Amino acid sequence: MKTLRLPLPSLFFQLVLVLVIVLSSLAIAVPKALAISTLDNFPTPNIDKTEKILGPAGEIFEFSTCNADGIGFTIAEAQIPPGAGPLPHIHHYTNEWFWTPQGGLQLFQSVKEYPDLDNPATDEQAGNATVYTVNTEPNQIVYGPKYRVHGFANTTTETRPLTFIWLEDPISPAYELHDGGIREYFQDVGIPIKDLKHLPAITDQSKIEFVSHAPLYGINQSYYFFEYVDGVNGKLPTPLVSLNNDKSLNRIIETINAYNQGDTSVHCF
Ligand code: CU
Repeated sequence: MKTLRLPLPSLFFQLVLVLVIVLSSLAIAVPKALAISTLDNFPTPNIDKTEKILGPAGEIFEFSTCNADGIGFTIAEAQIPPGAGPLPHIHHYTNEWFWTPQGGLQLFQSVKEYPDLDNPATDEQAGNATVYTVNTEPNQIVYGPKYRVHGFANTTTETRPLTFIWLEDPISPAYELHDGGIREYFQDVGIPIKDLKHLPAITDQSKIEFVSHAPLYGINQSYYFFEYVDGVNGKLPTPLVSLNNDKSLNRIIETINAYNQGDTSVHCF
């Protein structure tokens, strides 16, 4: 039987092929450079049992944490009752995202940064911040990096879902769960939930420790709204409109998906 001989592609054809591949990969890369402002779904790791904790600010948290090579993060799928939400605070060891499946939560954040854990945004220390508010839409994702004064409140009359994502920052000390200390913070200051239908009461001790223990986990947490804030503005300035860290967020999503697909190099618990 005669072997069929295919003609070798000419040099010109090879060059065109390379050019097409390069251009098409650029076209794929472009959307990734745009900020993720909405997400239809945020994946959660399929673990046996989430850890349920009532936050001192009223959040009903269900925690899961994932560790993989070079990455550690904690996710909390939460329910936020009307009026609940933390007062202004600053993270030093984590970068945070908020995903609002139904919207209805008012987030706020400063442009000014406070990089010194020992110098929080009080009037007498590093000075107060102006915070800018976002009334979240369904499926919105908002990035809150370390060092900025931020917080949120449920301004509606119904309980609303919120997914938190906290990514360990490279400057974080090594907390046991490799998540920048956030889950240990809530284990320390929050109240364990045994039954979601019968929530425990939030104690005064829990509210006080929420503030007083915060620096142990790289957090400055204010006692009252205007301790760190001297102004609230409803018009987002340009630096906040374009603020995102989609590279890290995509890495988190890929890590969760890998775990859910059986990748044994990812540990979630
Ligand atoms: Cu925060």
